Amino acid sequence: MDRYSEIYRHSVDEPESFWRAEAAAIDWQAPFTRVLDDDAAPLSRWFVGGTTNLCHNAVDRHLATRSSQVALIYVSTETGIERTYTYRDLFDEVNRVAAMLVAEGVGRGDRVLLYLPMVPEALFAMLACTRIGAIHSVVFGGFASSSLATRIDDARPTVILSADAGSRAGRVVPYKPLLDAALELAGHRPSRVVLLDRGLASMTRVDGRDVDWATLRDEHFDARVPCVWLESSEPSYILYTSGTTGIPKGVQRDTGGHAVALVASMRYIFDPAAFDGTVDPVSGRRTFFAASDIGWVVGHCYIVYAPLLCGMASLMYEGLPIRGMDGEADPGIWWSLVARHRVNAMFTAPTAIRVLKKQDPSHLTRHDLSSLDALFLAGEPLDEPTARWIAEGIGKPILDNYWQTETGWPMLSTQRGIDPSMEPRFGSPGKPVVGFRLKLLDEASNAEVGANRKGVLVIEAPLPPGCMSTVWGDDRRFVETYWSLLADRSVYSTFDWGIRDDDGYWFILGRTDDVINVAGHRLGTREIEESISGHAAIAETAVVGVADALKGQVPIAFAIVRDPVSIATPADRLRLEGEVMATVDRSLGALARPARVHFVPTLPKTRSGKMLRRALQAVCEGRDPGDLATIEDPTALEHVRIALGPPFP
Ligand code: PRX
Repeated sequence: MDRYSEIYRHSVDEPESFWRAEAAAIDWQAPFTRVLDDDAAPLSRWFVGGTTNLCHNAVDRHLATRSSQVALIYVSTETGIERTYTYRDLFDEVNRVAAMLVAEGVGRGDRVLLYLPMVPEALFAMLACTRIGAIHSVVFGGFASSSLATRIDDARPTVILSADAGSRAGRVVPYKPLLDAALELAGHRPSRVVLLDRGLASMTRVDGRDVDWATLRDEHFDARVPCVWLESSEPSYILYTSGTTGIPKGVQRDTGGHAVALVASMRYIFDPAAFDGTVDPVSGRRTFFAASDIGWVVGHCYIVYAPLLCGMASLMYEGLPIRGMDGEADPGIWWSLVARHRVNAMFTAPTAIRVLKKQDPSHLTRHDLSSLDALFLAGEPLDEPTARWIAEGIGKPILDNYWQTETGWPMLSTQRGIDPSMEPRFGSPGKPVVGFRLKLLDEASNAEVGANRKGVLVIEAPLPPGCMSTVWGDDRRFVETYWSLLADRSVYSTFDWGIRDDDGYWFILGRTDDVINVAGHRLGTREIEESISGHAAIAETAVVGVADALKGQVPIAFAIVRDPVSIATPADRLRLEGEVMATVDRSLGALARPARVHFVPTLPKTRSGKMLRRALQAVCEGRDPGDLATIEDPTALEHVRIALGPPFP
């Protein structure tokens, strides 16, 4: 057996022995008494009885050996700001925020909602929450008010941390009005809103509720707040993600399992060199650059927790991949940061590379990339032309990896930390990651399929450490959503199709449900449909994800109007299309806005009334819609074809 197979087998055949050893990588205040408690399967708990603290492991622990080493490099090409923080600085800043939260009455188990742009304060605040045992819930900055309101009502935060504004391509996006509107809509009232003033947009303060971040920071400037030791399975955070229904799911992560899994992911996948004492010869440290956002799972894991847990420096970047510090176009900005800060491993989404692909490739070779070991890409399918283009352009291994908000770290990946000779294969995110018992099940029979046969990708229980523990406040929803494929609830469904080749490389073939992926962001088509149906002129609608060269997929909507008079002329149609788009913008944000809204007289449904979304999607992509034996009205797809217009050459 090769080395990878041997270690992988050990991890899944003897999970308790495997994870007991991995758990030694973090500090425990009290040791755990059981590695795994599976008594209430599929709800499982890792490192039972052990007490630990994420912030202690990410910050305090390093003070003895790295207090003057850089922990955080912050670069914003939006505001032209660049700052570095040592582990000592980080410790001080985190304590200040922790003290201000404690003073506002936040305690163990309370929720703190962050609605912040990419600023260092966001990272300090996340760590401050985990320090005092509070549960953070980061909502992507700039998210639409109604989406924010549903998250406020679900998480019921004691305190909300926000800012005057974010900035995108030099354009200021005021957050405060969006937050105020969300708080109007929400039933829950936080006791305090702390506002960071970046000097980007003016803010009106609500007396008695809103306070200034900088004032509180000054008040608690010299504060020291002890870490609260949590039992391993106590929650560290809630992160909302889209599913098949319009109601977002709060993915709940534990504390101990999360820390252990993230360190393992660095060791086996992202930066094995960091574990044999290798440091960059110029910087004297290891530096990780996840070009993502703290509002997404990649940001939580690979901007904040994993690099800091491993004593590395993390580069946090606010801005576009094609815009420089002076606000001028610069498609080489990322590579200049890699060169200047001696980045050793970098992580982003394929969509960003497709943006760069439209630029002059000479930017890829203008900078010294000698520090960089590999570029990791995840979040959506990595098409082969894009992978080859960037691999040739920067001359580094391009390592695709597959995972979900729910799993919290990769399920499929090349694992150079296990076997340095493990080669990536174009089109495949790699092989099952240690700890994940992955299987492919036949859609109809649920039997396991062999090599080269498509199946639903599932994880056999127990989920390894670091995966979601439950849906926040709703164990039943967790079990019913993810564990209902087999009657005995023994497998977690990823809702992705997969296939495995003869050499054990796995490939992802798209979602089995109604979730689409727009520029690496996950959206439920049902959410968009619900939003469109909110427009008074719309009777019914269906939204599908259609292949797009840049964004991977874009939403396309088909709608039936209540009164045909409303779309009597081409101008009427155009106006209504614009109104529908604006409706989606308001409730879900511009990311979810359909690229087109086509008005049709009927929609393709089965005789039992189920929308034939896959057929609709096939027609949009110019593919054969497949077996239509169950379609109620065969002319429906004809109307769709007419609405789409003639195919372009
Ligand atoms: O469909 C899969 C796709 O993105 C989904 C998860 O999205 P999200 O929860 O936002 O987590 C992103 C964490 C990286 C998956 O169910 N997906 C993710 N990575 C890949 C992928 N599809 C193909 N290849 C990937 N590498």
